[in-house]
Amino acid sequence: MNSRKPSDIGIVGLGVMGENLALNLHRNGFAVSGYDLEEPKRASFADRTGAVAPRSLQELVNGLRIPRVLLLMVPAGAAVDTVIAELRPLLAAGDVVIDGGNTRFTDTQRRMTELTGSGILYVGAGVSGGEEGALKGPSIMPGGDADAWPRIKPILQAIAAKAEDGQPCCDWIGPGASGHYVKMVHNGIEYADMQTICEAYFLMQQLLEMQPREMSEVFAGWNRGELSSYLVGITADILSRVDPETGKPLVDVIVDTAEQKGTGKWASQAALDLGVTAPTIADAVFARTVSAVRAERAVASEVLAGPQPAFGGDPDAFVEKVRRALLAAKICAYAQGFQLLAAADKEYGWDLPFGTIAGLWRAGCIIRASLLEDIRRAYARDRQLANLLVDGEFVRVMGESHQALREVVAVAAQNGVAVPAFMSALAYYDSYRSRRLPANLLQAQRDYFGAHTYQRLDRAGKFHTRWTAG
Ligand code: 6PG
Repeated sequence: MNSRKPSDIGIVGLGVMGENLALNLHRNGFAVSGYDLEEPKRASFADRTGAVAPRSLQELVNGLRIPRVLLLMVPAGAAVDTVIAELRPLLAAGDVVIDGGNTRFTDTQRRMTELTGSGILYVGAGVSGGEEGALKGPSIMPGGDADAWPRIKPILQAIAAKAEDGQPCCDWIGPGASGHYVKMVHNGIEYADMQTICEAYFLMQQLLEMQPREMSEVFAGWNRGELSSYLVGITADILSRVDPETGKPLVDVIVDTAEQKGTGKWASQAALDLGVTAPTIADAVFARTVSAVRAERAVASEVLAGPQPAFGGDPDAFVEKVRRALLAAKICAYAQGFQLLAAADKEYGWDLPFGTIAGLWRAGCIIRASLLEDIRRAYARDRQLANLLVDGEFVRVMGESHQALREVVAVAAQNGVAVPAFMSALAYYDSYRSRRLPANLLQAQRDYFGAHTYQRLDRAGKFHTRWTAG
């Protein structure tokens, strides 16, 4: 007979994330056990965490306090289905299964449907913050069966990061796959945030010929102001690092080809599916895809004409413009992310707490930034906000920074420096603030070749013109 005290939570999947979450849980006073298919991982887990690592799922389940709580930290995709299939006969009504991976929201939706009637409470939880976040306090975005929340709330809120006001960066997002959807949007914003930072670096490097060391200081300075964020902070750190083998700045010896696991792509696809304008998020994905055709770019660089970068202005003034441009582009990317959330909210009827979501991105996660407190306040003032850009505070900030974004984009264009995310952020801003766009002509074109009809400004109804004689 097992005389051991039952565990509060069982973790399935003992990779770095699973192991670090276990250490975090343990530090917060929870009894944890963990299971992985691979014996060495179980051994390392038991060794590192001092927790129990049973040899089978059955044993893991048997050792849990009832109703049981299981946290799946296995790779998103087929592995999640396999684990659920194996767990299902071992669990009882009221038990909670949390998928803490970067699962595509449509998979979470499907799994919830498949578990209907089983009594198992299923939760799709976005977890952000990487390895360090898992250990010290991630941002957690749980959604799914609301009956699970009272059972898991004390556990997840205890291990989550805490914002400056002491609030845990974990709260209930809503029903269905809303938790994983919110994490997907987080990652879409993450892609745009990373790309715009990279473009700021690229402009300083290409036009001002600044060295990584100098740029590190610039980013460190920015990190003390409005742009204060995890990603700007790590950029300052990265740019100061020297490669011990060559003595060169480490960033200069890294291949300029970005990889991706797909969450930014999913966010862009979701935006297209729901008819949401999210060009900066999509351009951040495309910036990675074009970086990936490195050999083609090398050939094209020899044959395609373009200007030779040559900057003639005041370097310090330009750096300040880049800072403001980065802030403006960042706000546009966040606006797009929240537009996507608003559209999903309508489509799926989730009743998403936008202010809360911004609040739980204030610490622990990859996009954590001082700006998120301002976004939280904007949605606290008005949950129905048509767009973050029209909130009074953001109207003011964009009013102060759009000119810098324009100037930086213009200088980049004149000098042939590729800054797709800056450019699309500006185009987004200008499109959104345009009372009139050229879509009147577009409608006429559609009507011309396809009799798709158009509407008139002066009276209601659908109209068609016979554009060609005869
Ligand atoms: C997070 C990160 C995390 C991971 C990304 C990386 O919030 O902790 O988003 O989930 O680092 O999946 O994604 P890419 O490999 O696509 O850049």
